[in-house]
Amino acid sequence: MTMADTVKKAATRTTVEAIALDNTYAAHNYSPLPVVAASARGAWITDVEGRRYLDCLAAYSAVNFGHHNDEIVAAAHRQLDAVTLVSRAFHSDQLGPFCEALAGLCGKDMVLPMNSGAEAVESGLKVARKWGADVKGVPPDMANIIVADNNFHGRTISIVSFSSDATARGGFGPFTPGFRSVPFADADAVAAAMDENTVAVLIEPIQGEAGIIVPPDDYLPRLRRLCTQRNVLLIADEIQSGLARTGHTFACDHWGVVPDIYLLGKALGGGVVPLSAVVADRDILGVLHPGEHGSTFGGNPLAAAIGSTVIDILRRGEFQSRSAELGLHLHSRLRSLIGHGVLSVRGMGLWAGVDIDTRLGTGKQLSMALAERGVLVKDTHGSTLRFAPPLVITAEEIDWAIEQFASVLAGPGS
Ligand SMILES: Cc1ncc(COP(=O)(O)O)c(C=O)c1O
Repeated sequence: MTMADTVKKAATRTTVEAIALDNTYAAHNYSPLPVVAASARGAWITDVEGRRYLDCLAAYSAVNFGHHNDEIVAAAHRQLDAVTLVSRAFHSDQLGPFCEALAGLCGKDMVLPMNSGAEAVESGLKVARKWGADVKGVPPDMANIIVADNNFHGRTISIVSFSSDATARGGFGPFTPGFRSVPFADADAVAAAMDENTVAVLIEPIQGEAGIIVPPDDYLPRLRRLCTQRNVLLIADEIQSGLARTGHTFACDHWGVVPDIYLLGKALGGGVVPLSAVVADRDILGVLHPGEHGSTFGGNPLAAAIGSTVIDILRRGEFQSRSAELGLHLHSRLRSLIGHGVLSVRGMGLWAGVDIDTRLGTGKQLSMALAERGVLVKDTHGSTLRFAPPLVITAEEIDWAIEQFASVLAGPGS
């Protein structure tokens, strides 16, 4: 069989065949909906059999600027034809401009480029510990970092070490020490957990996987003051909440809070490549020296060129505005379903967590029913549905998705 035959065969596979192949050869660490994407444009995904779905998940906010965003794809094509990877053993003409632009967007001095979100989190934790040792003067191996209950920061060993999710932890010990978890949205609990060896407080400004939990307005400002007073780094994991998702460039902007360290990922790679970053001032990121941290692919020219284009897009502000305006529309349409199968709606911008009446089915069952009607969402924590469409979605498309949702909630035959 020639290469062309193999490609053709893959393209003509049915949904059932494609899923069977996945289930046989791909590790079962996810439980996907039975939808097999073959192509995508804007807010729409087309499956292998030509069915179209309105994407209301956006790859967990990695596709904020739409599938196949022309500007991003053009930048990727240009860079593919120039140079894609040299490793950090050499410089590239893309890395410096990308880091300068991202540091500028964040109002910080420096950028540590990585790949996945979990890597950015791990890197941020390492930077905080090193800062504790070199700058704060914490004795060796004594540093602690305060995190929030029900956090989601990724799936590596150190990150699941401070997860409250039994499934994420079960069987994966022994765990990394040095973390203290306190209730989310409770600044007093953070204050009580701090001691002279606390080097950082790591939070999601809005908890995503926990169900789009928005803290009270005084939480982040209080954490900011507390961290400043106690010489502790405030680390904001904006990997899902950042880059226009909530109607601002960063979710922290809603409360006028500037963390010491931003952790970014997902949409930074324009939905094309994995690209993440730790962004901070020189007195923090400057603690890293050659050999202390690295990644072969981190900051590669292809990712950097795409990242620079993403930052150009963010600088124009159009997606922040779209998310803010259309978010109001999405939330008001979702709230109109309260009492009709919806219990509550939370979130900001084009990001909504919707608690459903479990008598109508589990979150997974309702997600399946919605997929059958052409709308893709994902459940979290059993009975919460998450709506996070690409920010290119239109008001009419939102209306259509809500109509499908209302029909699903009304039950079969509606
Ligand atoms: C807030 C947050 N941090 C970190 C991560 C991990 O990112 P990745 O899956 O790219 O490792 C996620 C992923 O959903 C996330 O939502």
